[in-house]
Amino acid sequence: MNVSIFGLGYVGAVTAGCLTERGHRVIGADVQQGKVDAFNAGISPIVEPLLNELLADARTKGMLSATTDSAAAVRDSDVSIVCVGTPSLESGRLNLDYVRKVSEQISAAIVAKGAPHVVIFRSTMLPGSTRILVRDFLEAQIKAGQVRVYYCPEFLREGTAVKDFRDPSLCVVGTHGGAPPESREALELLGEKAEILAWEGAELIKYSCNYFHALKVGFANEIGRLAKFLEVDGARVMDVVCRDEKLNISRYYLKPGNPFGGSCLPKDVSALSSLARMEGIKLPLLDNVLDTNSAHLDLLIKLITSKDTRKVGLLGLAFKADTDDLRGSPMVAVAETLLGRGYQLSVYDPSLNMSRLIGANEAEIQRRMPHLASLLRETAEEVVRDCDLIIVSQKCVDLAALRSVVRPGQSVIDVNGWRELETLVWAYEGLCW
Ligand SMILES: NC(=O)c1ccc[n+]([C@@H]2O[C@H](COP(=O)([O-])OP(=O)(O)OC[C@H]3O[C@@H](n4cnc5c(N)ncnc54)[C@H](O)[C@@H]3O)[C@@H](O)[C@H]2O)c1
Repeated sequence: MNVSIFGLGYVGAVTAGCLTERGHRVIGADVQQGKVDAFNAGISPIVEPLLNELLADARTKGMLSATTDSAAAVRDSDVSIVCVGTPSLESGRLNLDYVRKVSEQISAAIVAKGAPHVVIFRSTMLPGSTRILVRDFLEAQIKAGQVRVYYCPEFLREGTAVKDFRDPSLCVVGTHGGAPPESREALELLGEKAEILAWEGAELIKYSCNYFHALKVGFANEIGRLAKFLEVDGARVMDVVCRDEKLNISRYYLKPGNPFGGSCLPKDVSALSSLARMEGIKLPLLDNVLDTNSAHLDLLIKLITSKDTRKVGLLGLAFKADTDDLRGSPMVAVAETLLGRGYQLSVYDPSLNMSRLIGANEAEIQRRMPHLASLLRETAEEVVRDCDLIIVSQKCVDLAALRSVVRPGQSVIDVNGWRELETLVWAYEGLCW
C-alpha cells in the first residue's frame, strides 16, 4: 500500500520503518523540516534501536520519502496514519490541537484528490475524540463513501519499539459502530488479529492500558515503601507476588462487576492502610481502595433506587457464589439499605441455609438483618414471580428454569457480567456495561 504517516516522532517514525519492512511504500509528513530531511536521508529522527537500519534500507529501496506538504502526502497515498503528538495542557487536559490541524489538512487534501482514502488515527486521544474529529472534518466524505476512518491505538514502548511493532502486545481497531472494518487496510497494516470495537472503546482501551501500567507501578512502589519501613525486602516481596499467575498476574479480579467483599479483602485492606497511617507512611493508592469500593456500592444502590418499583428480588446474597459467607457481602449492604428505605425484598441464595448459619456469619446477619429468614425464598422462581426488579449478583440460578417465569415488564440488573441474562424477556441492564 501507499501510506502517508503524519507526525514523524516516536510512533510515526517506528510505524514508517516497520511498514516499509513489510513492503509498503511510506511518505512521512511533519511540520519540522529537520525530521523530514532526516527521513529523506534514510536517518531516524529519533533514537530507537533497529530503526536507523530499517529507514536506511527503505530509503535505498525507494520505499520511503518525507515532506512538509500534507496535501502531497495525501494525494500520493491511499491511507493516512495520524501519529502527531497529543500533549497535556498546563491544566492537565489533553491538547488535541495538532490532531485537529492534521485532520483539517487531510480532509481538504482528500476533497482535492477526489478519490477514496482511509484515515487511521493512532495518536492517543480521549474517548469520543475520533467521533468529534469525524464530525468536524470528515463527515461529508464518509457519507459520500469516499473515506473510512479507524482508530488504532499504539502500544509500543520506547527503547523496544521496533520489536513491539513486529510482535505487538495488543492490536485494536476501532470502527464507527464496532462492526468489522469495511475495508482491509487497518487490519493489514496494523494487526490481522486485532480486537475490534467502536471508536470510543478502542480509545478507552489505550487509556485503560496506560492507567493500569501506572497503577501497577504505584502499587509496587507503595508496597516497597511499606516493606522498607518494616525492614522487609520489597523487591523480593513483589517478585513473589508476581509468581502467582493464577490470582495475581491474571484476568482474575479484573472484571467490572460486584464490589469486593467477604471476610478477608475489606478487613485486610483496612488493616494495612491503618498500619501505614499510624506510622505516618503515605500510601494514597492503597489508602483509597476502600473508598473506591464504597463508591461502587453506592452506584449500585443508586441504580436500583432509580427504578420505578419497590418490589426488588436479590439472586445471590453471599459475597460470591458457592459460599454462605455473608461477612462483608456487598449484597447484604444493598439489602440493608433497601429494607431501611421501605422496599419489599425477596432473596434467593442456594448456599444459604438459615438453620445452618453459625458463628461469626450468624452474628453478622443477626446484627445487620435479623429478619433475613423471612425474606429468603426456597427457589429463584419464587423471587422472580414476586418482584418487578431482579438484582443478579451471582451465577446461582438455572436460567432454563427462570425462562418460564420471567415477564416482559420486569427488569434485571446484572452485577456480575452474566450476559446470558440478556436472552430472557426482561429488560436487561449491566452495572458497568
Ligand atoms: N512515545 C510513545 O512511546 C507512545 C506510545 C504509544 C502512543 N503514543 C501516542 O502517540 C502520539 C505521538 O506520540 P510521539 O511520542 O510519537 O510524539 P512526538 O512528539 O515524538 O512526535 C509528534 C510529531 O508530530 C509532529 N506534528 C505536529 N503537528 C503536525 C502537523 N500538523 N503535521 C505533521 N506533523 C505534525 C511533530 O512535529 C512531531 O514530530 C501521542 O498521542 C502519544 O500519546 C506515544
